[in-house]
Amino acid sequence: MLSMMFAGVNAQSLKSPDGKFEMNFQLKQGVPYYNLKYNGAVVVEDSKLGLRLFKDTAIKFASEIAKAEDAKFDLNNGFTKTDEKRDSKNETWQPVLGEKKNYINNYNELAVTLDQTSTNRSIVVKFRLFNDGLGFRYEFPQQKNLNYFVIREEDSEIDFPTDMKAWWIVADYDSQEYQYQETKISEIPSQWDKAFDANASQSLVKNAVQSPLMLKKEGKEPLYVNVAEAAVLDYPASHLEVDAQNFKFKTHLTADRQGAKGYIQTPSVTPWRTIIVSPKAEEVMASKMIFNLNEPTKYTDTSYIHPTKYMGVWWEMIIGKSQWAYSTAENVHLDKTDFSKLTPNGKHAANNTKVKEYIDFAAENGFQGLLIEGWNIGWEDWFGHSKEFVFDFITPYPDFDIKMLNDYAHSKGIKLIMHHETSGSATNYERWSDKAFQLMNKYGYDAVKTGYVGDIIPRGEHHYSQWTINHFYRIAEKANDYKIMVNSHESVRPTGESRTYPNYISAEAARGTEYEAFGGNKPDHQTVLPFTRWMGGSMDYTPGIFQTKLDYYFPGDKRFVKTTLAKQLALYVTMYMPLQMAADLPENYKKHMDAFQFIKDVAADWDDTKILSAEPGDYVITARKAKGTDNWFVGGITDENKREYTVDFSFLDKGKKYEVTVYEDGKDADYIDNPQSYNIYKKQITSKSKLNFKMARSGGFAVSVKPVN
Ligand code: NOJ
Ligand code: CA
Repeated sequence: MLSMMFAGVNAQSLKSPDGKFEMNFQLKQGVPYYNLKYNGAVVVEDSKLGLRLFKDTAIKFASEIAKAEDAKFDLNNGFTKTDEKRDSKNETWQPVLGEKKNYINNYNELAVTLDQTSTNRSIVVKFRLFNDGLGFRYEFPQQKNLNYFVIREEDSEIDFPTDMKAWWIVADYDSQEYQYQETKISEIPSQWDKAFDANASQSLVKNAVQSPLMLKKEGKEPLYVNVAEAAVLDYPASHLEVDAQNFKFKTHLTADRQGAKGYIQTPSVTPWRTIIVSPKAEEVMASKMIFNLNEPTKYTDTSYIHPTKYMGVWWEMIIGKSQWAYSTAENVHLDKTDFSKLTPNGKHAANNTKVKEYIDFAAENGFQGLLIEGWNIGWEDWFGHSKEFVFDFITPYPDFDIKMLNDYAHSKGIKLIMHHETSGSATNYERWSDKAFQLMNKYGYDAVKTGYVGDIIPRGEHHYSQWTINHFYRIAEKANDYKIMVNSHESVRPTGESRTYPNYISAEAARGTEYEAFGGNKPDHQTVLPFTRWMGGSMDYTPGIFQTKLDYYFPGDKRFVKTTLAKQLALYVTMYMPLQMAADLPENYKKHMDAFQFIKDVAADWDDTKILSAEPGDYVITARKAKGTDNWFVGGITDENKREYTVDFSFLDKGKKYEVTVYEDGKDADYIDNPQSYNIYKKQITSKSKLNFKMARSGGFAVSVKPVN
């Protein structure tokens, strides 16, 4: 009866709880389509849905066996609608660490069951419409004719009616460490070839871009659109193929070594495709839709997860002043080489004397953590050789006394942060991870920075293919068994998984501060990242560089961090980072202890966040309220243009008095000519106050706000 009734209905419509969005689902000659309207205007035109499959799971070389007759196995046509279910939710949940105390998860849901009669299979397409946008995914119920299958491609389209401005990076199965491009959608193909530089592991996808992708419809009534995905688990990460004539995007999943794009056992679901829409850029940036589309955590104990401010024996290696490796050897065997007999290169940073100096400085200034890279044997030939047994993660170099240094750190209230660079050898890491985490437990480490520089082993896998994504979350779960927090570099960008795996507190997965030493970040870089990389989770950007010009270390060196010092401070507020690094060397902070005070004071976990004003590629002004206190912090950053902004403090409690400490660009500050010119002053304010700030080229301001008793 039901199926007969629904077969007669042509389209299903779904509205957001506030009624502003409307989504329509329709079958046209058996092919599923959806569209999206905002305030009655079409945001996404009729766009096709579906997947192509391989014939069976016994594939050898998938690309070779993709034959035309396999098309009958595809899940993209010949459908009839047999059922329709509606649901809705309005709940509030608390992230373990977050930008706000409460995240609101409010949506209306439509799940359409589609039967493919010719193959006697059925799938479900599920839509969730929130007040900030749409999420949809495919669900595969277990059934006689759909137990196991292999995906050839997911063909979810997003067809926009007009050309729009786009902030994008080139699609790549292995790297996200690119500069953002700002072009029209229609210009992406002509700009694509110029939009990347080299990476230690790189598998580019021509004329495709990565997600999250930020878009803007310009004109009198601007509209900001963010295209991304959520809950990418047991599935490859997706990219977006560009149809520049039709302003249309289509998913392109990361392939594995066989060219396959996901091995599925039913019952199963895909990640959510997400489209966040608002006339206000600030609302897009503030959206928590991607997190809402992830499952609540099943962890029984999250009490060990805490915000951490840390320093690191790190930047000096990144700029080339010192080294990770201990010796001059070029080829080492972890199980044969006697490292104590090797000739020291004299530049090994992770040595007892230096680490103690860093511990002293971090402890004196109230940090909780100190990252140490290059502490373990193997760095002599650490990447670029497809070497599987590249690290054991448990054996220190001869000049790193792990017990003494941890005891020393603990005696001063510091926990050392472990570093597990895998060089992409994920199989090796899985083999050693129990022993490695046991060592961490033994010495009282509670956080690890992992890394995946170079091509992935298993050879032929990619950083964003299904196997490797499963690896990242397997490690997160194992770390949880040992009550360890994870910050992973060169891993896949997060898509809200911190809700499910709250100990996976941070990742790099974009072009971070290190690139200021490797080729530079454009001055607008940090104004784009919160609209892209940050949409699904926090990033270990590693700000806080005060000595921005590298000719300070190496006379004549042209490399420099393309911001003012005040902008480096502002990043602690504009970028959400519960694991927050002060990345520069102690000697540089010692020269600017007055400015360093802001980094010492700023919080890393928040009860509230207000994006006061933002425009991708131009500026970001953010205010945040520190967790469990009445202290606020405000940060503002600008791109290569000077800018002024007046902060209206009406978000503060009425009738209360506050003292602000302002850190702003000096009158003559400039990111090229005078980056270290800054001005600090204090002032009493109330919720009625307004303060004007002048930002230099690639400058900014940072303000700490404390109630006066
Ligand atoms: C790349 C990481 O992003 C960086 O932070 C780290 O220092 C190096 N790999 C070495 O592991
Ligand atoms: Ca700009």
